[in-house]
Amino acid sequence: MRPSCANQSDAIAIEAMDDASDDTSRGAPMDYGSRQCALPQSPRPQTSHNNGGRPGLPPGEGESMQVDSDIADASTTMDDLSTVVSTIRNYQYENGRRYHSYRQGQYFLPNDEREQDRLDLGHHIFKLIINGDLYRAPIPEPQCVLDLGTGTGLWAIELADILPGTQVIGTDLSPIQPWWWTPSNCRFEVDDAESEWLFPERGKFDLIHARGMSGSIADWPKLMAQAYDNLRPGGWFELQEYETLIMSDDDTINQAVALRQWADLLNNASEKFGKPMLDCVKHRQRMIDAGFVDVQQETYKVPMGTWPKDRRLKELGRYQLYQMLEAVEPFTLALFTRVLRWSQEDIQQLMDRVRADLCNPKLHLYSRFHFVYGRKPE
Ligand SMILES: C[S@@+](CC[C@H](N)C(=O)[O-])C[C@H]1O[C@@H](n2cnc3c(N)ncnc32)[C@H](O)[C@@H]1O
Repeated sequence: MRPSCANQSDAIAIEAMDDASDDTSRGAPMDYGSRQCALPQSPRPQTSHNNGGRPGLPPGEGESMQVDSDIADASTTMDDLSTVVSTIRNYQYENGRRYHSYRQGQYFLPNDEREQDRLDLGHHIFKLIINGDLYRAPIPEPQCVLDLGTGTGLWAIELADILPGTQVIGTDLSPIQPWWWTPSNCRFEVDDAESEWLFPERGKFDLIHARGMSGSIADWPKLMAQAYDNLRPGGWFELQEYETLIMSDDDTINQAVALRQWADLLNNASEKFGKPMLDCVKHRQRMIDAGFVDVQQETYKVPMGTWPKDRRLKELGRYQLYQMLEAVEPFTLALFTRVLRWSQEDIQQLMDRVRADLCNPKLHLYSRFHFVYGRKPE
C-alpha cells in the first residue's frame, strides 16, 4: 500500500503521471497510532459535478457527480490523463533554458537539468549552514510533513529516509522530482502553492516547510494563513531563505560595482514581476501577524568565496561561490528580458562583469540566510 498526504486541490500526483495503473491504494488512510494522515490522492482531470455552487471544487458530502456520457471506455480516460500529463510536461523554452508549463510564466527560474543541479547544491549549502539538519523547528519526529515548492525534492526525500514513519508530501509547479527513487513514505504532486489548498483534512500537518520561495509568491499573508489552517495545533511552519542583497563587513562591497548593480536590478525586476525576492526579511513579522507563536528567526552570514579564515566558512564559501556563479544566468535571463526588456547583448555583458566581481578574491562578500519558524498555538 502506498501512503500519501495528498492534496485534493487541482494538484496532480507526479508518480501517477508515469504509472497511471498503480491506483489501487488511493484513498486508504495511514494509521499513525493516535493520529491519521489520510488521504485520497489526485490525479484529477476535471469532471463536471454538482458541487453545491462552489465552482471548481470537488463535490462535498451528499452532493452528486454527473456522469460524462462521452467517456465510452478506459482508453478515453487514458487519453484524458495523457493530455493532463503532456500539458504539465509541455515545457517552455526561452533563451536556451527550459521553463515550467503548469501555470506558465508564474515562476521566473528554469527547471532544466542545470538548474536542478544548482538546486541540489543549494540543498547542500542550506544543510551545511545548520550542521547537516533539514530544519530548525523544535519538532523531532513530525508525523505528517508538507514541503511547498519542493524543487528536485531532495529535502522531502531525505526527511522521508531519516524518518521512515513520517509521511512527506512535496508540491511544485514542475514535475522534476525523481519518483523512481522516492521512498514509499514520500510523494510529490504538481500544485500551485498560491492556489487554495484543498487537503482532505485541514489541520493534519505537523510541519510545513518551504525553502527558497522568495520571488515565487505574490501573496505571503495568504500563504501564511493557508499554512496556519493546514497545521495541527502545535504544528510548526518553517521558511528557509537567502537574501538577494550582497554585503561585506568591510568596504570591499563598494568595489563590486557590477554585482551591486545586478542585485539592485534583480530586486527591482522581481518587484515589478509582483513577487519581490527581498520579501524574506518580512517573514518573521508576517508569521506573527498570521497568528503563529514562539516565532524565531535565525540569520546566518554565508560567504561567497574562500576568503574567510575559518575552515568551515571557507568550505561553505567555496560551495556558495559556485552556486552564485551558476545562479547568475538563470536569475538574470527571464527577469531582465521579460520584465526589464534588456537586450541579449547588454545582459551578456552585465553577467560577465558580475561573474568577474564574484571571482575577485579581494572582495569579502556574503549574503544572509534566514531560518524563520513559528508554532500554531494548541
Ligand atoms: C528556488 S526553487 C527551491 C526549490 C527547493 N525548495 C529547494 O530549496 O531546493 C523554488 C521552487 O519553487 C517552485 N515554485 C515556484 N512557484 C511556485 C508555486 N506558486 N507553487 C509551487 N511551487 C512553486 C519552483 O518550481 C521551484 O522548484
